Amino acid sequence: MAGPLVYDPYSYEIHEDPYPTYARLRREAPVYHNPERNFYALSRYHDVREAMQDWQTFSSQGGVALEGSGKAPPMIIAMDPPRQTKLRRIISAAFTPRRVAELEPRVRELAQHLLQPLRRREQFDFIDDFSGKLPMAVIAYMLGVPEDDHEMLRTWSDTLLHREPNDPRVTPAGIEAAGNLVRYFAEAAELRRRRPSTDLLSALLEAEVEGERLSREEVLGFCFLLIIAGNETTTKMLGNAVDLLYRHPEQRARLLREPHRMADAVEEVLRFEPSTQALARLVTREVTLHGVTIPAGARVMLLIGSANRDETAIERAGEFDAFRPPVAHLSFGIGTHFCLGASLARLEGRVALEEILHVMPEYQIDLSRAQRVHSTNVRGYAHLPMSSGLDHEGGIHAAS
Ligand code: HEM
Repeated sequence: MAGPLVYDPYSYEIHEDPYPTYARLRREAPVYHNPERNFYALSRYHDVREAMQDWQTFSSQGGVALEGSGKAPPMIIAMDPPRQTKLRRIISAAFTPRRVAELEPRVRELAQHLLQPLRRREQFDFIDDFSGKLPMAVIAYMLGVPEDDHEMLRTWSDTLLHREPNDPRVTPAGIEAAGNLVRYFAEAAELRRRRPSTDLLSALLEAEVEGERLSREEVLGFCFLLIIAGNETTTKMLGNAVDLLYRHPEQRARLLREPHRMADAVEEVLRFEPSTQALARLVTREVTLHGVTIPAGARVMLLIGSANRDETAIERAGEFDAFRPPVAHLSFGIGTHFCLGASLARLEGRVALEEILHVMPEYQIDLSRAQRVHSTNVRGYAHLPMSSGLDHEGGIHAAS
C-alpha cells in the first residue's frame, strides 16, 4: 500500500527520482499543500500551463526558487510586467533565433576544443570536463568575460545553488559565492564603463529604458541571471541527454544513423528530464482549483517535471522517445517569462550531441558513481563519470 503522499523539494530521495511522487500528486492531490514547508504545488499539465500564463494571479515577485531570491540583485525572472517586459526588451535582441544561429560555429569550436583531450582519457567527468564548461564558455563569451575566469564563475554559481539535505537555506558558502559574483560583475562593469566594447555587458551599460539608463543593480541583476540561468540549466540538460541516450542504446544507434534528428532528441530530453523541474510563484489573490482554496500570499510551486509527464496531455508521456513528433512541453516556461535563452540552449544541446556522438559514439557512463545535484529547481547530475569507449589510438574498443 502506498504511504502518505509527501512532496518535499528538498528531499534527496525526490532528487533521485521525483516521478512516482509526481504521478501520485497528479492523481491524488492536483493542488497539493505542504504545511511544514508552507507551499502549494500544481502538478497537472493544464494547471501548470495556465498558471504560467496568468502572471497577475501567479506573480514572480517572490522569485522562482521556493526559498526566494534573497539578496540577489533585481532580475527580470523575479519581476512582473510592465517592468519585466521593458527590461527584457533590452537584451532580447542578443537572443533571437537569428543572432543565436550566428553563434553556431563558435559553439561547435568550443565543444570540439573541450572534447579533444577527453578522447584519450580512460575516464573523465562529463560535468566537470565538458557540460559544466561549454555553457559557461558561451555565455561568458557573449558577456565578454575573459576565459581564465570561467572556472571561477562556474564554481561560484554551483556553490550558490547547492543545498544541504533537508535544509532549504542557501549555505554560508553560497552566500559568499553570491557576493563574489556580484563583486566580480561590478568590477567588470566598471572596466567596461571606462573602455566600452561590443559585448553584451557594454550593451547593458549603454541601454536605455524610457530615456533612463539601467541602474547599477539592474546591470548586475542581468549578469547574475544570465550566469545562473544560462549555465546551470544547460549544464544539467547536456548531462541528462548523454544519460538518457546511454540508457536507450537503440535510440543512440538510430541517432548515429539519422543525425538530422538531433534537434528532436534534444527536445525530448528537455521534455522527459527538464533541468528546470519547478518554478515558484506568489499568489496575489485567493484561488480555488479542484476544490482546494489557495490563500492570497501563498507560495505555489509549478511542477514542470510533472506537467511534461502528464499522460492526459501528452501521449506516452512516461516513455522517452527521441524521435517523437514535437510536443508543447513546458521546460522553457510559457508566456511573459518564456526562457530568453531557449534558442541558445537548443543550439548548445544539438551541437554538443552532434560532436559527442561523432567523436565518441560508444561512450560509456558509470552510473554507480554518478551523483545528483541537490537543488529545489534544477534536476541533473553534479558528477557523471564517463569513458569515451575509444582505445588510446582513438579507435573504438572491440568489446563495445
Ligand atoms: C536547458 C536550458 C534551459 C532551461 C531548461 C531553461 C528554463 C527556463 C525557464 C523554465 C524559464 C521561465 C522562468 C519562469 O517562468 O519563471 C526561463 C527563463 C529565463 N531563461 Fe532559461 N533555461 C535554459 C537556458 C537558458 C540560457 C542558455 C539562458 C541565457 C543565456 C537563459 C536565460 C533565461 C532568462 C534571462 C530567463 C528569464 C526571462 C524572463 O523572466 O523574462 N536560459 N528559463
